[in-house]
Amino acid sequence: VKSLRRVQTFVHRNTGTVVAAADGDPLRKEATDEKHGRRSLSAVQAERQGQAERSVLISCNPRTNEKKFLKFLSRHGDVSKYFFYESYGIYALVEFTKRESVASLLEEAAIPTVSHEALVPFKTRLLSLKNIDSVGSTNQQYQPQTTAPINQLIQRLSREESIDRQVISLTESYQLTEENSRLRFLVCSLLQDMVAAYFPECAIKPFGSSVNGFGKLGCDLDMILDLDSISGRKAKTPKSASSLEYQLKRASTERAVTQSILSVIGECVDQFGPGCVGVQKILNARCPLLRFAHQPSSFQCDLTANNRVAVKSTELLYLYGQLDPRVRFLVFTVRCWARAHGITSSIPGAWISNFSLTVMVLFFLQRRSPPIIPTLDHLKGLAGPADKSVIEGNDCTFVSDFSRIQLRSNTETLEQLLCEFFDFYATFAFGKMSINIRKGKEQNKPEVAPLHIQNPFEISLNVSKNVNATQLGRFVALCQESSWLLQQVETATPTGGAAGNTPRPWGLAALLQPSQVAEIKSRKKRRREPASERIRTLLESLKNNKQPNKS
Ligand code: CTP
Ligand code: MG
Repeated sequence: VKSLRRVQTFVHRNTGTVVAAADGDPLRKEATDEKHGRRSLSAVQAERQGQAERSVLISCNPRTNEKKFLKFLSRHGDVSKYFFYESYGIYALVEFTKRESVASLLEEAAIPTVSHEALVPFKTRLLSLKNIDSVGSTNQQYQPQTTAPINQLIQRLSREESIDRQVISLTESYQLTEENSRLRFLVCSLLQDMVAAYFPECAIKPFGSSVNGFGKLGCDLDMILDLDSISGRKAKTPKSASSLEYQLKRASTERAVTQSILSVIGECVDQFGPGCVGVQKILNARCPLLRFAHQPSSFQCDLTANNRVAVKSTELLYLYGQLDPRVRFLVFTVRCWARAHGITSSIPGAWISNFSLTVMVLFFLQRRSPPIIPTLDHLKGLAGPADKSVIEGNDCTFVSDFSRIQLRSNTETLEQLLCEFFDFYATFAFGKMSINIRKGKEQNKPEVAPLHIQNPFEISLNVSKNVNATQLGRFVALCQESSWLLQQVETATPTGGAAGNTPRPWGLAALLQPSQVAEIKSRKKRRREPASERIRTLLESLKNNKQPNKS
């Protein structure tokens, strides 16, 4: 079995950082900016979609004999890639060289017989392998699909020699792996098969952090149901005087159509979709969506439709991440730092979202002197006729050809940028100013909100409208503290540590530890507890014949 992936490395001209780029497909040539080895998002997506269509997901016994397993599969054609992973059991993702092999494999699959239960005979590319030879003990290598716990990361970073190395190491341990990306596209492809029962020509594509280059292992899977690809949906010019039209059901608004489509798909996924659980229809949101968990992949899935602006913002984020490796390194580091301190959360609420945080990093990089990345208006100016895009009255035009973008020569290190980032937002005039990556300059706030970040494409919207003053205050306090920590000799320099011992957390590792300020504040709060409360604890501890908790 050959791995499809060859890795090409190149040295970034400004930073001297070694960057790896996946290689190895015919699409690459046409869509690559040869000078820098960068590929367009659409080329990456087309390749991944192709792989996903040739793949199946098979639940296996943990002691499956790998050789026998491959021999069994190869009766249907060449396997180009496979890997095992764990998610509510052991699964294998298997990719064939040819699509026909999948059809041949499915031909062989049977509907199981069960007693005491009934089954919905809905066939998908999610299968179970039965009665294959087992080996004595588990020898399979499971590909991790989640990140290591933060404490392990802190230990790993503490052993690095510089803050630059720490930032790179953090990104390497958090970013999506090749395998996890394949799994994401496969889940989209499986869902597309289900939706194709209603809309045979539809496409389901991932967007957001699964594909914008800033995704962390374990992040949610945002998907868009693309109905625009259905032929004839965009007005055609009739070829002759006579013409035919489909008779279609009508609804009062575009939004009502989206809601009804998502509602029906939600039913289908809920009632028929193998492995799909906890389906929620969130149809009254600004952007209606279906939310569910896909157990065989462990992904939390969000499916939206008619959300083309979000696809554009995904492309924009991807482009910025490709322009200079420092963009991704910094975004990963800031996102991880924010998560470690509860500045961001997986639950929606009044806190800053990862998307807002990413825009804040981009804005900061535009404000460097010289700027590391150009403004969105500059990217719009470089656009060619094919890049023109207006969605629901919003101008979403920007250049797609990387080679047209000239970067300024900024040589700041990751360490400098990290310190400067904290300084920048520790002192930013949040009260008066709005963050604006279109102009690359702060603007007067158009409306009252603690944090105002202009949506790059829907410019009348505030990306961080949900954020309250308390959450913004926590962010600013942490920026101040992190900036201070990076200026202290004890925390900002490597601690070494005796051989075999884990060094004391320093640099970025120190920044990821629980906040000192939060600790002091909570100690003060405990001291302020009413006397009656303290007496009660004391009495209780005496009753139990124990020492009261001194902390
Ligand atoms: N998005 C947007 N405007 C918003 C929120 C989101 O345009 N106010 C788009 C962005 O393209 C974003 C995508 O929707 O990347 C998905 O949103 P979300 O899942 O909230 O953010 P992610 O970038 O995917 O980050 P995470 O890893 O936290 O899921
Ligand atoms: Mg997301």
